Order: sequence, then structure tokens, then C-alpha cells
Amino acid sequence: METQADETAAKSGEKLKVAIIGCGWIAEAHVKSYLKCDDVEIIGGADLIPGKAEAFFAEMGMDPSKLKLYPSHKELLDNEELDAVSVCTYNATHAECTIYALEKGVNVLLEKPMCVTLDEAVDICRAEKKSGKVLSIGFQPRFDANMQMIKKIVQSGELGDIYYIQTGGGRRRGIPTPYGTSFIEKETAGLGALGDIGCYSLDVVLNAVGNPKPLTVTGYKSDFFGKNPKYYKNPEYADVFGVDDFAAAFVRLEGGIILDFRIAWAMHMDTPGDTLIFGKEGGLRIPSTDCWNGSVGGAMKVYHDVAGERVETEIPVLSNQGKDLFDMKIRSFLDAIITGGPSPIPASEIIYNQAIIDGIARSAELGREIEIEIPEI
Ligand SMILES: NC(=O)c1ccc[n+]([C@@H]2O[C@H](COP(=O)([O-])OP(=O)(O)OC[C@H]3O[C@@H](n4cnc5c(N)ncnc54)[C@H](O)[C@@H]3O)[C@@H](O)[C@H]2O)c1
Repeated sequence: METQADETAAKSGEKLKVAIIGCGWIAEAHVKSYLKCDDVEIIGGADLIPGKAEAFFAEMGMDPSKLKLYPSHKELLDNEELDAVSVCTYNATHAECTIYALEKGVNVLLEKPMCVTLDEAVDICRAEKKSGKVLSIGFQPRFDANMQMIKKIVQSGELGDIYYIQTGGGRRRGIPTPYGTSFIEKETAGLGALGDIGCYSLDVVLNAVGNPKPLTVTGYKSDFFGKNPKYYKNPEYADVFGVDDFAAAFVRLEGGIILDFRIAWAMHMDTPGDTLIFGKEGGLRIPSTDCWNGSVGGAMKVYHDVAGERVETEIPVLSNQGKDLFDMKIRSFLDAIITGGPSPIPASEIIYNQAIIDGIARSAELGREIEIEIPEI
């Protein structure tokens, strides 16, 4: 995947100095992709848990004694001259790490979801604007050929004006606890299924329809599985579960589009439904998967009329031609740094995703519809 930016960096002979903030599960995918880039030098990283960064980099085949390792994002950014960081911390520290890095003049690749609250998202966008640096949000499905096809179909006008979208998905059982409780504790995750996988299904449709502004939301969330010890191998997890395992919402978007959303980490059902996009001239069905992470569960179908006859056109599942979505997410971020932007996955778009998530959480707590207000950045 050689790009012009690759060549430019290679010619100048300078490597981009990159560090990893948060050395947990997803950091591995970042490091693997950075290691494939000739114009990157991973100088080190940070993790709050003593010894975790050392063990992580050793596991990645890198010598920890040759790296700069720190006990938090702050010490790392205070002490090192960096071109870029990947923020791979749990959701609750996304905002503080990202804002601190931008304030230090460092470009940031921030993992999804953008953060926990809309207020945090606003602060992140303001810090980005002030810094003039590149901030890209880690939605790798944006590089998936099928996701790009969904956007292409909608943007081509094939479906006409869009007026209704159903999206979401989820797992029959899939509360993520592979490496402990950072996804299920309120203090670390902030959000449950709503933030973790809900952000993906929202991004697919919001990006396809051109990121309309959300106006109002009626949200619901529950924790019936998360709080029940019988659904865990380690029943003590039920005591610390402090987020949602299911969320649903009815959202009004600018342009008269209705968004009907539901997402589950666990449910007594196989799927809460496919993603459906209704337009005045056609409809698109996107089969759901049992692990909603921004992939399609099968061939998509366009429903439309041709010469007065009702016709269905199948869109076969597209291959990414052996390209790794994470590699593309990392490379697009590096290229934006080298060329001076724009951000491949801009915070100015993802803030609407965060506004909906935040709106669902707040509306669910209040038990009524709320208006979404996004301040000027
Ligand atoms: N894009 C994807 O496909 C994908 C997949 C999994 C997770 N994620 C996202 O990545 C993020 C991290 O997930 P994970 O599974 O790696 O979590 P994790 O709990 O395994 O790792 C997070 C690490 O961040 C560290 N940390 C937190 N605050 C810190 C700070 N201020 N400074 C330094 N270290 C800090 C924690 O100590 C922890 O080790 C989450 O937001 C998650 O949603 C994305």
C-alpha cells in the first residue's frame, strides 16, 4: 500500500516518532501496523498499571530497555518529543489523553468510541482546532469495501432521499471481559454496548447519509445480563458491572431522517434486526452479524422499481483484497500528518455519533425525549 506520502517520508529520510498510550488489548493491533511502516519509529509508550507497558512491548518482540516507558500519558508527553500517539486507553481516559497530547502539539489517533460524553467530545474538538494537529478517530470499518459501498449507494442517489434508517445489532451473549473488567466498569468504560459497538453501527449509517446533525433523541438502556451472575464464568463480574448491555433509541436527524437504533452485548434473541435504509426511490438491506463491529453479515440487497416492476438487486460481499483495515487506519493517519491533513476520520464528523450516544444515555436516565445541542467549536 505504497502512497505518495510514503515516498515523501522515505525521501526525506526522517522517521515519525510515535508512542502508544494505553498498552492493553487493542494496542497490539496499532503496534503491528506501525511496525509495517518504514517511516515510523515507535519510541515507547505509557500505561497506568506498573510493568504493563514493559510486558506489552516485550510481547510485541521489542526490547523494553531500548524504549521510553512511562506510568501515564502525562509523563510520556511531558518528557518526549513526539510526532504522534495512538490513544488506546479505555473510554473514560480518551478525552484527557487526547486533549493533553494535542496541547503538546502531538498528532493523535484516538480509538473508538471518541469518548464518553458529548461535553468531552466538544473539548476534544476545541483542542484539535487550537492545536492545528491531525486527530483521527479509529473507526477502521470506514476502510472496508462493503462500508464504502453502502456510502456509494446512498450518495449515488439510487435510493432517492433517505427518510428512515434502522440500524444496530448485537450478540446473543458477548459481554466483553476477555482481559478483565475495563469494558464493564463505569469508571473505566463509561459506556457499555452503546459506546463499544453502538458507535460502529451509528457510524456506518451516519457516514453513508452524509453525517446529518442529530436533533432529538428518546433513549433506553438496560443491564439485565450484565448485572446477573449467571451469565459469567466469573460471577463476581456482575458486582462491578456498571454500564449498559442493551440500548435502543429513536433519533430525529436534520433533513427529516428518522433513525431507529438498538444494540446489544447480550439478549435472548439472535439479532435485533438488519440495518435498513429507506429512500423515496429505493431501500437497502444490510444483513447484520452476530458481532456488530462494522462488518456485513452477507450480501446486501437494493429494493427498487424498474420500469414499474419491483426488483431486487443483490450486492455481493466485497473483498478488501487482502488489505488489513487496521493497516489502512494507521497509514491514513500517518499520511495526513505528512501531508498536513485533512484527517481521514475527522472528529468534526464523529462528534455527531458521540452526541447521539450521549443523548441516548441522558434520555434513558431522564426517562423522556431530549433535544441535542452541540455548541460551536
Ligand atoms: N478499533 C477496534 O477494533 C477496537 C477493538 C477493541 C477495543 N477498542 C477500543 O480501544 C480502547 C482500549 O480497549 P482495550 O481493549 O485495549 O482496553 P484495555 O483495558 O485492555 O487497555 C486499556 C489500557 O489503557 C491504560 N490506561 C488508561 N488510562 C491511561 C492513561 N491515562 N495513561 C496510560 N495508560 C492508560 C489502562 O491501564 C489499560 O492497560 C477502548 O476504547 C476500546 O473501545 C477498539
